[in-house]
Amino acid sequence: MADQQKTAKVHLEPVTEANRALVTSLTLGPDQLSFVATNSDSLGEAALDEDARPRVVMTENRVIGFLMYEAPEDDDEARIYRFMIDRAHQGRGYGKAALREALEEIRSLGHVRHVSICYAPENEGARQLYRAAGFVEEGLDEDGEMIADLVLPA
Ligand SMILES: CC(C)(COP(=O)(O)OP(=O)(O)OC[C@H]1O[C@@H](n2cnc3c(N)ncnc32)[C@H](O)[C@@H]1OP(=O)(O)O)[C@@H](O)C(=O)NCCC(=O)NCCS
Repeated sequence: MADQQKTAKVHLEPVTEANRALVTSLTLGPDQLSFVATNSDSLGEAALDEDARPRVVMTENRVIGFLMYEAPEDDDEARIYRFMIDRAHQGRGYGKAALREALEEIRSLGHVRHVSICYAPENEGARQLYRAAGFVEEGLDEDGEMIADLVLPA
């Protein structure tokens, strides 16, 4: 398992007409449904928000997850606000690898100095994943969601 997690290979792609149905058919466990909006709702939101950058998480040619972030050019902060890996593919290192890819994509934009992320305080999987990536918890927002922040290496 540890080796598999170290070597999980994923890449991110934009959402297109060709992969959209696969993205909206990804599923979570029943106990995870409250942790993140449905991908269908997120894509609807993205269509109305020019700052939204929705991304498909792929391994080889397979669609296994979805994430969405924003990184407005007039701001040094990016925000990852949707992140999920299909339940059938969880626990194999894909989430960790996808987060790494997302952070690398954000870093390569050039204007972002730090990245924030938020999650339900009881979401232990997310907490562990983000902590391991270097995110530091800052406290709860007005909706009771935990905010964590990562300063990108210069
Ligand atoms: C959170 C999520 C994206 C992680 O994806 P994943 O592919 O299962 O994660 P990985 O296999 O890469 O695991 C990465 C790390 O996350 C942590 N983790 C994952 N699932 C966990 C769980 N159920 N309990 C505790 N830690 C967990 C571990 O620290 C793990 O690292 P380790 O195995 O080296 O200890 C996935 O579980 C998911 O889609 N959850 C539902 C949606 C959600 O909660 N999204 C985040 C809120 S925005």
